[in-house]
Order: sequence, then structure tokens, then C-alpha cells
Amino acid sequence: MFVALAFSSCKPDEPDTILKNQKNDTALISVSSEMPPIVKFSDNPITKAGLDLGRFLFYDTLLSQNNTISCASCHNQAMAFTDNNKKVSEGTVKQLGTRNAMPTFNLIWFDSLFWDSRASRLKQLALMPIQNPLEMNITPEAVVEKLKLSSLYKLKFKNAFGSDTITPERLAMALEQFLMSIVSDNSRFDKSKRGEVALTPEENRGFEIAGQKGCFNCHKTSLFTDNLSHNTGLDLYFTDKGLGGFTKKYNQEGKFKTPSLRNVALTAPYMHDGRFETLEKVIEFYDHDVIPNLNSRNISRTFIEQATRNRISQEDSKALIAFLNSLTDYDMVTNPKFSNPFK
Ligand code: HEC
Ligand code: HEC
Repeated sequence: MFVALAFSSCKPDEPDTILKNQKNDTALISVSSEMPPIVKFSDNPITKAGLDLGRFLFYDTLLSQNNTISCASCHNQAMAFTDNNKKVSEGTVKQLGTRNAMPTFNLIWFDSLFWDSRASRLKQLALMPIQNPLEMNITPEAVVEKLKLSSLYKLKFKNAFGSDTITPERLAMALEQFLMSIVSDNSRFDKSKRGEVALTPEENRGFEIAGQKGCFNCHKTSLFTDNLSHNTGLDLYFTDKGLGGFTKKYNQEGKFKTPSLRNVALTAPYMHDGRFETLEKVIEFYDHDVIPNLNSRNISRTFIEQATRNRISQEDSKALIAFLNSLTDYDMVTNPKFSNPFK
């Protein structure tokens, strides 16, 4: 009865609703007031049962060809949903992928997904790792056949969608709901913004330095990303063409989505290919290893010139890292709502 009511109040043609930013326990997705407003999709209203189903699916190895890996194998909550310090991930038979696993928090605000932005909606993205031969290596239809044998999933799909019909579309919708619910907004930095704690002088200094160095030109707003793609001058020639590989536009080669600086202390190694093992190495790169190439020159000239002219001191680099560490959200990485339901 409750499920039917929840559905009848949300017709597919309703405009997307903007939720009020409020931190309270009854809201299914609650975000603090420093974060941008959140937009829900009217074709996939978030429900308690949908979130529950999505969480089970995220942690279930049934979603892989030989029942060995789940989404969480590469997106570990303790590492802010990244892959256990691996440079690139391993698939069902330990076959190596080509890119560093991205964190899966605050995605409710993103409409360009993956390093090369080749997906724009989580519902669309959710079936891609399942089908990827280097990852879960199975068709969504074959996953559905496996799920149909489980009375647990029959019940959970019924609770979430009103009937126990299991389809790839519903699988994707439940995963989308779960992914949208993973919000990171409770780091020490956030608490300091809300006046609950004070940052140390070193952390404050690091924040200032990040501003002076132009980090916030791209890692901007309370999301610490502009949601755009840039070529940061990592290479002269591009083995991975990034956005350009997807759009086939020459001037977009070597551009990658700006990752959020939130939780970077937990997500090593860094960059799309995991080439830097530590934040010290990342800062060294920005400070004096940026390579002006055809596509970085247009986009980040000021940044590159600034970075190459003023060498950062050891002390300032340490302060910058102290600031980055203040962006770690220990609540998110331990929140039982996002944890493994099979344990
Ligand atoms: C074998 C490891 C692996 C598995 C399993 C895996 N992922 Fe990923 N995930 C990755 C990698 C690597 C990337 C970056 C890929 C790229 O950009 O091409 C990624 C990227 C993502 C992103 C993009 C985040 C962003 O900021 O754009 C989302 C969302 C995501 N994965 C969700 C999932 C879900 C849901 C599942 C299960 C259905 C899953 N992943 C299974 C390795 C994995
Ligand atoms: C021109 C935009 C831009 C500027 C300015 C910029 N970044 Fe980045 N940053 C990016 C992009 C894009 C990436 C991903 C690059 C890639 O993987 O190819 C990135 C990656 C990172 C990463 C790795 C994150 C991860 O999850 O792998 C860190 C840390 C980082 N930047 C910190 C900084 C700091 C500190 C500054 C200032 C010194 C800075 N950035 C300036 C765009 C920028």
C-alpha cells in the first residue's frame, strides 16, 4: 500500500524536484547547507526500498561473470569508494583495467561521469562496468537471470518497484538511487565552515596557498570540482586521449574530468592512470613538472605559468597537504547506510 502511494504521487512527467537542503534523519538524502541544492530525477524517485536494493546490488558478486567481484570490490567505502590503493583495477580473472578507479561520492551533483565523461546519468553508467570485459564481464540480462533465482531479490525488487519483475532497467535504477545517496559533506573542513571546529593554523595556511596557486580555479565550490574536463599538462603525447577519445575532437585529447579534492587523503594513487603515489608527488607535479602541450596551453596557461614561476617551499607543501587532509569525511567512510549489507 505504501509503495503504491509513493508511486502514484510521482508521475513520470513531473518536473525534476529540487529538495530542500536540510540535515535531518527522516530525509532519505540529506545534505548540509554549504552544498549546492540537489536535484532528483522524476523518472527514478528515491525510496527507502530502492536504496536498500541498490545497496545490496552494489555489494553483490552476482553482478560479475564468475561471481567473484562486486562494484564494491573496486569501490571500497573505507577508501572513499576507490580501489584499495591500486593503480588500475583488476576484473573477474585479474585482468587489468586501464584507469584508476574513481570515488563514487557526491555523484548526485555530477552530469558528466567517468574520467572521459562518456556517461551523463548514473542509470546509464550502472550497466557499463557490468558489461566491461575488463571488469565484471557479463551481460545485464545474464545478471538478471541470476537475480531471478533469489527469493531475497524478488522481494526487494517488489518492495522497490511494486512488482517482482527483475529487469536490467530496474537494476540500473536501484544502483542509481544508492549511488545518489552517497554524500560527503562532513569533513573537518565542513565542520569548520559551520563553526563546529577550528582548523589548525597549518590547515588554514594550506587553504590560502591552494587559493594562491589557483587550485580552486578547477577544484572549485564546496564540491571541490568544476565538473569540467581539463588537460593539466601531465604528458606531451597522450596514450589515453580522455575526453578527446570519446568525442573524437582533437583539441579535447588529454582532457580528464576534474576529480574532487574531498577525501583525497584516502584515494591514492592519483590521476586518471594512478601515476602519482602520494599527494607530495601531485604537488611536485603541479609545482614544476607541468608540461605545456597543445591542449593544456590554451586552457591553463595562467595556471601553468604561475606554477612554474613560483616554486613551492617544503613548508608550504606540507601546509597544502594538511589542508587536503582536512577534507577527509570519516562519517561517510564509516556510515552503515553505505556499508556491506552481507556482513
Ligand atoms: C574492476 C573494477 C571496477 C568494478 C567492478 C566497478 N568499477 Fe566503477 N569504476 C572503475 C574504474 C576503473 C572507473 C573509472 C573508469 C573510467 O573512467 O573509464 C570507475 C568509475 C565509476 C564511476 C564514475 C564516477 C565518476 O565520478 O564519474 C561510477 C559511478 C562507478 N564506477 C560505479 C560503479 C558501479 C555501480 C559498479 C557496479 C555495477 C562499478 N562501478 C564496478 C572500476 C570498477
Ligand atoms: C586547470 C584545472 C586544474 C587546476 C588549476 C588544478 N587542478 Fe588538480 N586536477 C585537475 C584535473 C583535470 C585532474 C585530473 C587529471 C588527470 O587525471 O589527467 C586533477 C587532479 C588532481 C589531484 C588528483 C586527484 C585524484 O583523485 O586523482 C589532486 C590531488 C589535485 N588535482 C590537486 C590540485 C592542487 C593542489 C592544485 C593547485 C596546486 C590543482 N589540483 C590545480 C584540474 C586542475
